[in-house]
Amino acid sequence: MCGIIGISSNKSVSANIVNSLKKLEYRGYDSVGLATLSDGVINEVKSEGRVNSLEQNFDIKNLKGNIGIGHVRWATHGVPNSINAHPHSSHNVSVVHNGIIENSTILKKFLINKGHNFKSQTDTEVIVHLITENLKTLELEEAITKTLKQLHGSFALGIVFKDIPDLIVGARRGSPLAVGYGPNENYLGSDSYALKAMTNKITYLDEGEFCLVKKDQVLFFNEEGKKINKKILELSSNEANYDKGDFKHFMAKEIEEQPTTIKTCIKEYVDSLNKDINILNFPWKINEIKSITLIGCGTAYHSCLLAKYWFEELTTLDVTIDIASEFRYRKNRFKKDALYIFVSQSGETADTYAALDLCNKNKMKTCSIVNVIESSIARDSNFVLPIHCGPEIGVASTKAFLGQILVLYILILKLSSLRNEIDIKLYHKKLKDLISLPSLVEKTLPHDNDIQAISPTFNEAKGSMFLGRGFSYPIALEGALKLKELSYVHAEGYPAGEMKHGPLALIEEGMPVVVLAPRDDYYKKTISNMQEVIARGAKVLLITNKSKDEVVSENIWETIEVENTNNDLLPFLLTIPLQKLAYYSALKKGYDIDKPRNLAKSVTVE
Ligand code: M6R
Repeated sequence: MCGIIGISSNKSVSANIVNSLKKLEYRGYDSVGLATLSDGVINEVKSEGRVNSLEQNFDIKNLKGNIGIGHVRWATHGVPNSINAHPHSSHNVSVVHNGIIENSTILKKFLINKGHNFKSQTDTEVIVHLITENLKTLELEEAITKTLKQLHGSFALGIVFKDIPDLIVGARRGSPLAVGYGPNENYLGSDSYALKAMTNKITYLDEGEFCLVKKDQVLFFNEEGKKINKKILELSSNEANYDKGDFKHFMAKEIEEQPTTIKTCIKEYVDSLNKDINILNFPWKINEIKSITLIGCGTAYHSCLLAKYWFEELTTLDVTIDIASEFRYRKNRFKKDALYIFVSQSGETADTYAALDLCNKNKMKTCSIVNVIESSIARDSNFVLPIHCGPEIGVASTKAFLGQILVLYILILKLSSLRNEIDIKLYHKKLKDLISLPSLVEKTLPHDNDIQAISPTFNEAKGSMFLGRGFSYPIALEGALKLKELSYVHAEGYPAGEMKHGPLALIEEGMPVVVLAPRDDYYKKTISNMQEVIARGAKVLLITNKSKDEVVSENIWETIEVENTNNDLLPFLLTIPLQKLAYYSALKKGYDIDKPRNLAKSVTVE
């Protein structure tokens, strides 16, 4: 959460800082600010709201300075207003920060006793004054090393100094930070996405490191303040993908491009000629893995939950799933023969990263399934399986969810085959079906009119329920998450069979209930559960797959039929109408679809 940019150049930097902040807005968008340095003065401008409000409130183009830092905020300490917006400055230091300083209260007391005055409610302001304090007695590098050691918690920092006209200091612990290299200028940024318009030459800071960025030189240091050398990576850049094209929102574009993204991913992994799956350089022998633990947050966790059903269907491996924020603090019994799989679109989610770090420290086998291959989670895993779906900008995850479940399914099929747990003919049949999945997704996309007509009912109701059994249960959870995230209405995903154990009491006349009942092994049971909610007055939207047999039930409000395929692949198709339901509900309400309130795309605080 929060995005950082810093530029040290031989020309004015304010316009480029603003452009980069617009790209970083997906990381936080409740307030924004920047500081440039000119003629020994720190020029600080800050605003509540988005980058365009900063542009409206200040004459940014005329803000002088060849060096500057900028920030988009997702509030943790202190309400989102212009005072709490970053940068925070003392008389000689200005700081932007992503993360949380856990010992800020103690440090603040210490600094107030030393005579420092605080203006904001943020934890970040202690960093500013701590550096100012340490600079009274120490040289720059020593002051930075000491300050970083005094801070508990997580941070990525960008720092400028009134008396050092060409320097930005960057530091990283727990939150991502990258350095970029350009002609006569160098950069600091929360991620390569913010820097890609300016450069594709990047160095990622590792835990505990800091750097000194000047327009013509970058130096790196470890946490002891010792100089270190780091590699420069060349990233492939494809700016075109970041464009909304003809779509109103990134989310709409990302839903519609799913046939293409999954096709690309299938091509990466499935060798259709040899009827096999290519997972190259898998670092372990198959008999070294006896169990699987899948870990993620939010939508990525739903991917893990679905994978558990596939694992159990196709292998005899023991499978556990966990929410990263729970896993990281539990007394885990680490097992040498377990494979720990981390699922994350961004690859930067703080809780998922912490869970991975814990496994690495316990010398476990770690594998990540990510979209951003340069991310911290990808870099620190033993093995990475990318989902190849291109940048996902909408905060609500859509094409990345399909990408995650696709790669999980491919991995599970491969493990099943390597463990001789699937008949070769069935394996080939499942691969054949998989290859036809993009065209089935394509055919499932055009339900817009029906869904647009249905969506006001979900917006107007007190709440709604999403029900499914088996493979459809994780999809029900995902559908409910999408609706609440975008439309700000209460929605609950539930296993259909659990309704009578409590939630059935919520059902009243006219309550919209989505029932996911594809013609799979759970179909009859789910239809019975559907009748129980209809009998209590629910308005049921049934989502099933096409079949020659009619659904035997009365009083279904609306039905949407997705294409038909083998049972394993139905979850992909059931997801599509739910994504659209959330999209059109939010569209009707006029909400900010790509940036829902209180959220951010990359959750880099715990
Ligand atoms: O980047 P990650 O996949 O690790 O993100 C995990 C969750 O924050 C994310 O899936 C979140 O739940 C989405 N906004 C849901 O649409």
